[in-house]
Amino acid sequence: MKKRLIPVLLLGLLACESPQPQSDSAVEELLAQMTLEEKVGQLNFVVGDLFNTGPTVRTSESQRFDEAIKKGEITGLFNIHGADYVNRLQRIAVEESRLGIPLLIGADIIHGFKTVFPLSIGEAASWDLAMVEKAAQVAAQESAAVGINLTFAPMVDISRDARWGRTSEGSGEDPYLGSRMAEARVRGFQGKGLADPLTIAACVKHFAAYGAAEAGRDYNTVDISEYELRNTYLPPFKAAIDAGSATLMTAFNELNGVPATAHTLLLQQILQKEWQFEGAVISDWQNIGEMLAHGYVADSAQAAQLALEAGTHVDMMAEIFLRKIPQLVRDGVVKETVLDEAVRKVLQLKMDLGLFDNPYQYGSAEKEKELIRSEAFLKTAREMAERSIVLLKNEGQVLPLKKGKKKVAVIGPLGNNKADMNGSWSFFGEEQHPVTILEGLKAFDTEAEFTYVAGCDLYTNSTEGFAEAVAAARKADVIILAIGESAPMNGEGASRASIHLPGVQEDLVKALHQSGKPMIALVSSGRPLVLNWLHENVPAVLAMWTLGSETGHAVANVLYGNYNPSGKLPMSFPRAEGQLPLYYNHKQTGRMYTGDHSEPGSERVYRSRYRDVPNSPLYPFGYGLSYTTFEYSDFTIDKQTISLADSVKLSVTVRNSGTLAGEEVVQWYIRDEVGSITRPVKELKGFEKISLAPGESKTLSLHLSADDLAFWRADMTFGAEPGSFQVFVGGNSRDVLNQSFTLSPQP
Ligand code: NOJ
Repeated sequence: MKKRLIPVLLLGLLACESPQPQSDSAVEELLAQMTLEEKVGQLNFVVGDLFNTGPTVRTSESQRFDEAIKKGEITGLFNIHGADYVNRLQRIAVEESRLGIPLLIGADIIHGFKTVFPLSIGEAASWDLAMVEKAAQVAAQESAAVGINLTFAPMVDISRDARWGRTSEGSGEDPYLGSRMAEARVRGFQGKGLADPLTIAACVKHFAAYGAAEAGRDYNTVDISEYELRNTYLPPFKAAIDAGSATLMTAFNELNGVPATAHTLLLQQILQKEWQFEGAVISDWQNIGEMLAHGYVADSAQAAQLALEAGTHVDMMAEIFLRKIPQLVRDGVVKETVLDEAVRKVLQLKMDLGLFDNPYQYGSAEKEKELIRSEAFLKTAREMAERSIVLLKNEGQVLPLKKGKKKVAVIGPLGNNKADMNGSWSFFGEEQHPVTILEGLKAFDTEAEFTYVAGCDLYTNSTEGFAEAVAAARKADVIILAIGESAPMNGEGASRASIHLPGVQEDLVKALHQSGKPMIALVSSGRPLVLNWLHENVPAVLAMWTLGSETGHAVANVLYGNYNPSGKLPMSFPRAEGQLPLYYNHKQTGRMYTGDHSEPGSERVYRSRYRDVPNSPLYPFGYGLSYTTFEYSDFTIDKQTISLADSVKLSVTVRNSGTLAGEEVVQWYIRDEVGSITRPVKELKGFEKISLAPGESKTLSLHLSADDLAFWRADMTFGAEPGSFQVFVGGNSRDVLNQSFTLSPQP
């Protein structure tokens, strides 16, 4: 155990022998000296004065923080940074407050700090766990250098409704992919240990089912069955916690009638009892107070009581614990032991972070200079960005482009745009930094002649710029369209009822189409968009999310084939908003429509379908093309029947049947044909990203045991059920080979 910086009042006590590990006893001894006011101070987390990320800002000047820190009224500040700035505040906490407890410095480090990475949904599209872990590691190192010791990430909310703006912050619609991404990010942020000055604590969020907001409207009501909660929405949280996430954030939504921040099923039964989570639970911004607006509590004292008693330990921005808990304890309404338990979590976190050993270890002016936007970090950002791009269409092999003398028109409001390339959670990433698409292309292909015309903007319906864009298109050999959403169109509070291209961008594309020139559409977004017209009329379409600092370089590398695209969609792209929520792992209905027009009239009519669009997505989950092609063959299964204690081995051979080296994400799915509750038509159970040279083949295997077939049933038991299973393998969730086996009831 390392030597800790222990407040003076503690030194005498620590001399005593204690059966507990030192950290625990140090926490206990510190706790024993705290007044009620100092205790609630440790539960009070407030935003700093650099960036406001919520609805009400404290009318603070740093002077006010200084006083509050001195009085021990603040456990930490968030969304501030800068070694000098942070260390000045730490010094006040450590040297001028009575107990000298250091501060947590939190921040929303969601997709990078100053080196900005693709939106999390984009990173998930890489299906590249090692790369995602590395990106989180870079983000942690930069953040730690500027004094941050806790990130409010990973965001692991499953999202099946693209209208929801926060889709951009998560890993899409699938619990398995979401779980693997959650683990990778936690590993990246926390490294081998919290006390390492180049790692930061993770905070998995938003617990739970926030992504199931009705109608995709942010903060909206969630009402889902408990087995749906457990089968779909909780696995990524469990994965993040098993990977060691130090903290967790509660969600804004109510779940089945109870606000998440006072939800005892979530916080006590599942988180504490079943998962044995020992870390601090942090509320989201003012969501303790918002229980009044939900109509769940009569006043803020009751809100404080219910949240604390349920197991929310830290109050973000409501200051309700600070104001209400001491009196509630004095009045005997809330037990002091409940308060103590919350304080213990926070003190333990600060100890684990090494803050009692060295409160200044997270802010270092030298490290800031050495690490921020270092060459190595920008290289990682470029590699991550290249891997996040998904090639959705490439008719006639328009791509890859060839370098050399030609006229290229880059057209669209995002073609030479810096600010929007940073994405929605990028208030730290400076606006001047990202390499624009135009800049990247020009730097890559020095012989080509590039012209740039915006053509329209992202927000208005003005078509004034169309004529100039059409003129540029006519003169060009190839048109690169840079279209999509602006950064603020996704993220918190950014739900959109229409998920078509905003403004008049689709009209611009239609006008340019008349030039007859080959077009390549680079579509930026934080969510799946409706891209039907593009799909039908534009030869090449790429989903590029927002790619961050290295946007232009990554785009150039992909368009020119320097990097062969390998991304696969983490969310289904719909044909119309009316299909939402849309996800590949849906249930079968009693009247599923097969799309078979030979069915007699009445058979066709009374089916689960839309009259105007097919049920299927435009681009399915797991979908993405490459400049080469892959063939799947020899899908074999080693046993037709297995027992509950046994496992089955699936094998498949994947061959690069094209002429370029490339990477493929091999995806394994199952279908449990009959269940005590109905089962999804497909469920992802494994994937592997492989590289293949032209003509090269690899044989891959997956072992499935009864554990992999298990699910939560209506009676809240978890287990596999004997019966027939189908298994599938392919390069997306739609185009698969299949096999089957039986799970026998024998143990
Ligand atoms: C509210 C958001 O829901 C949450 O994700 C974020 O971490 C906090 N604000 C702090 O900015």
